[in-house]
Amino acid sequence: MGFHSMLVQVTWVGVMLTTIMAAAAVAYPLALPNCSDSCGDVKIPYPFGTTEGCYRKESRDFFINCSNSYGQPQPMTGNLNVTNISIEGEMDVLMYNAIDCYNQSGTPLEINTKPRLSVPSFTVSITKNKFVAVGCDTYAYLNGILNDEPFSIGCLSKCNNAHNIVNGNCSGIGCCQIDIPEGLKKIDFAAYSFDRHKYVWSFNPCSFAFIIQRDKFNFSSAYLTSLQNNRTLPMVLDWAIGSETCEVARNKGNYICGANSNCSDHNNGSGYRCNCKQGYEGNPYLKDGCQDINECVYKDLNNCKSNQDCINEPGSYRCSCIGGYHPDGEACVADQPAPKSSLAINLTVGAGIGFIVMFVCCSWLYLIIKQRNLIKLKEKFFKQNGGLVLQYQLSRQENSTETAKIFTIEELKKATNNYDETLIIGQGGFGTVYKGLLSDNRFVAIKKSKMMDQSQIEQFINEVVVLSQINHRNVVKLLGCCLETSVPLLVYEFVPNGTLFEYIHNESKVSTLSWEICLRIATETAEALSYLHSAASTPIIHRDVKSSNILLDSSYTAKVSDFGASRLIPLDQTEVATMVQGTIGYLDPEYLHTSQLTEKSDVYSFGVVLIELLTGRKALSFDKPEVERSLVTYFLLSLKENRLFEVLGKHIAKEGNAEQLKEVAILAKKCLKLKGEDRPTMKEVATELEGLRKMEKHSWVNFDSNSDEIEHLLAETSNSSNYDVRNKSTGVYDSVKDHVILDFDNGR
Ligand SMILES: *[C@@H]1O[C@H](CO)[C@@H](O)[C@H](O)[C@H]1NC(C)=O
Ligand SMILES: *[C@@H]1O[C@H](CO)[C@@H](O)[C@H](O)[C@H]1NC(C)=O
Ligand SMILES: *[C@@H]1O[C@H](CO)[C@@H](O)[C@H](O)[C@H]1NC(C)=O
Ligand SMILES: *[C@@H]1O[C@H](CO)[C@@H](O)[C@H](O)[C@H]1NC(C)=O
Ligand SMILES: *[C@@H]1O[C@H](CO)[C@@H](O)[C@H](O)[C@H]1NC(C)=O
Ligand SMILES: *[C@@H]1O[C@H](CO)[C@@H](O)[C@H](O)[C@H]1NC(C)=O
Ligand SMILES: *[C@@H]1O[C@H](CO)[C@@H](O)[C@H](O)[C@H]1NC(C)=O
Ligand SMILES: *[C@@H]1O[C@H](CO)[C@@H](O)[C@H](O)[C@H]1NC(C)=O
Ligand SMILES: *[C@@H]1O[C@H](CO)[C@@H](O)[C@H](O)[C@H]1NC(C)=O
Ligand SMILES: *[C@@H]1O[C@H](CO)[C@@H](O)[C@H](O)[C@H]1NC(C)=O
Repeated sequence: MGFHSMLVQVTWVGVMLTTIMAAAAVAYPLALPNCSDSCGDVKIPYPFGTTEGCYRKESRDFFINCSNSYGQPQPMTGNLNVTNISIEGEMDVLMYNAIDCYNQSGTPLEINTKPRLSVPSFTVSITKNKFVAVGCDTYAYLNGILNDEPFSIGCLSKCNNAHNIVNGNCSGIGCCQIDIPEGLKKIDFAAYSFDRHKYVWSFNPCSFAFIIQRDKFNFSSAYLTSLQNNRTLPMVLDWAIGSETCEVARNKGNYICGANSNCSDHNNGSGYRCNCKQGYEGNPYLKDGCQDINECVYKDLNNCKSNQDCINEPGSYRCSCIGGYHPDGEACVADQPAPKSSLAINLTVGAGIGFIVMFVCCSWLYLIIKQRNLIKLKEKFFKQNGGLVLQYQLSRQENSTETAKIFTIEELKKATNNYDETLIIGQGGFGTVYKGLLSDNRFVAIKKSKMMDQSQIEQFINEVVVLSQINHRNVVKLLGCCLETSVPLLVYEFVPNGTLFEYIHNESKVSTLSWEICLRIATETAEALSYLHSAASTPIIHRDVKSSNILLDSSYTAKVSDFGASRLIPLDQTEVATMVQGTIGYLDPEYLHTSQLTEKSDVYSFGVVLIELLTGRKALSFDKPEVERSLVTYFLLSLKENRLFEVLGKHIAKEGNAEQLKEVAILAKKCLKLKGEDRPTMKEVATELEGLRKMEKHSWVNFDSNSDEIEHLLAETSNSSNYDVRNKSTGVYDSVKDHVILDFDNGR
């Protein structure tokens, strides 16, 4: 009993001590030694600092001017008041708003402002802010630099009275808001009015535009007048160190993350941030800023049981038994046996050894049983997936060199680093595609299909066998498969440059492919399909031809991929009835109606890819007006009305030879004929495309005479700048502004 109470006392003292120590540790240093770590109420953590030598010397952006000119210390960055700086990489500031006010007779007032953000290396947080315009006779722009290119966005709001305004909702009436694009720098913005607030002056004499912290903005009709009194509003900036990745900074030697911290790239490598490792807290930007958290002090940070002792360790903690056993005699499970009195040691050692021996035996037995089950399971899957049939099929054609290999599950696990998520290169209804590295240093793409139904297995095996024999430079090669898992894994050659879809629709890649290359890709695709239809030993219908199934290798050579939906046609049949399958927008309407699958279905889908290449539009775009929604309909209509050159992609129209473009368009039209039998065969298409490519090389002379016409047609869509606008523009972004006004007036 005496022993127990002593134990309780000792424990109590220990808890007290650790509490005191922890309380002392909470005040970790924020700034460099001998530097002030606050300005007024605001904490200033390094890399920020208020005096020379106290902020990160490589960049003046980290200087915080702690000026006393308002009668109290006020931290400022540039001309903005700073209200909070978080070590996680955010800085709260008060940003000026743009104001455009008028007096009753329509004369602009002098308070009007067009603010500009002048902290060059920080970006506006896109998650925490939004851009808002407030007013009933108002439009506003936000201009900035994004990836070294200027751009602008804007929004507008017009209303006749304040009745329709919904308090709490910035929904377009009296207030409009937009998200801010990522990585925006050097921003400026301005608010303007259409009619100098003449008709709404009584309740709204001003237009306002501002960037504001989302959770500090709750719109109400009061803002239409009250905002005039707020010159600044809260905004959040993102900050990071430098403009390089962690890796580059480390190699350069100007890396500043301190001990026990991790580094993470910010905004895709434009700068990096530091953060303390798990179990540490403090300022990771200081040399020894990250300090150990004493988990034992905080009940919610450790999960030691009441009969266990918590022992703090650097970056973690462990639980151990008090005195080896619990006062109540309950069993106590320690992470590690602690040294005890000699009797206790003997007892615990004895029990410990017994326990360990038992544990080892049990786990050994368990492992053996598990291993056997695993092997059985693998065999089961192998059989279920038709492995035996495949093995037999493959053994029959041993003389051929082009056979599929059957991979083991271990090989593929190793190749994909145990299906590491970072190696995923594609995902969709079909399953997941990983990039893998085989032991012979070959890169491969490994496709893990979705669950298969037993009846499809034989078909699947057939496809593997046939596809593995296809050896065409424009068809992705199937190298083999693995059948030991519940779903088959397919191994393909790795094609490094992504899909054609990306190059047509991804803004940043659009101009990578010249028209000449596009035409080559189309020709190669046509040749591959033609080969599948006719030359392969059993004709194959791809069934899912689309730009995202055309892969591009390092020299932009087309590789047709994804035969997941493909069907083999027995030689004595030209059509098969199947369940309709494919991608909407590319699907052959005849096949859709009749379910009769023929080679001509692929021809139709290929036609869609052709016009996708020509126009740069998606096969289906739900964000477009009704008439433009289906690319096929829209294209055929344009062709009928002789407006081909209006629908061509901009860089295609500029680059291509007009005659040749027209021919390709006509070819596409033939492929898109409603009745399959009217469409050309894939072979004819391939031959014609090949011919058109040759024509390109010889008839550039025609180009000049046509280019005027093309330019004229293009100009009609964008040249509206003669419209009478008050000259209040910011200079560079005229065309955007004119559009806003034009659209608005048309809608009135
Ligand atoms: C900090 O200031 C004290 C006296 O003001 C000086 O003795 C000490 O060397 C300084 N330490 C550093 C790291 O500059
Ligand atoms: C800090 O701000 C004050 C007041 O705005 C200004 O007078 C002073 O020049 C600034 N100091 C520096 C170093 O920029
Ligand atoms: C900055 O803060 C000072 C004092 O806190 C205040 O007087 C001043 O108006 C603020 N300036 C801006 C632009 O918000
Ligand atoms: C400053 O930011 C930190 C971290 O985001 C937050 O915990 C703290 O409450 C903020 N302080 C103020 C005064 O807003
Ligand atoms: C508006 O301002 C102009 C120029 O300052 C002035 O002539 C006019 O009287 C003002 N109108 C009203 C109603 O204040
Ligand atoms: C916004 O204001 C309205 C009334 O003006 C109120 O009903 C609503 O709860 C507020 N929303 C938030 C998020 O504060
Ligand atoms: C604000 O908009 C949301 C979503 O559009 C809507 O659910 C809500 O009812 C609106 N609030 C008011 C007060 O109209
Ligand atoms: C504008 O200023 C007033 C008074 O300073 C304040 O109550 C109001 O919340 C501010 N408005 C915004 C949008 O911050
Ligand atoms: C920090 O880095 C270490 C080693 O590089 C890693 O094991 C750990 O998971 C990382 N922690 C965080 C929170 O990123
Ligand atoms: C990141 O940068 C790389 C190279 O600059 C670029 O290829 C990639 O698309 C970028 N990713 C994102 C998400 O911006």
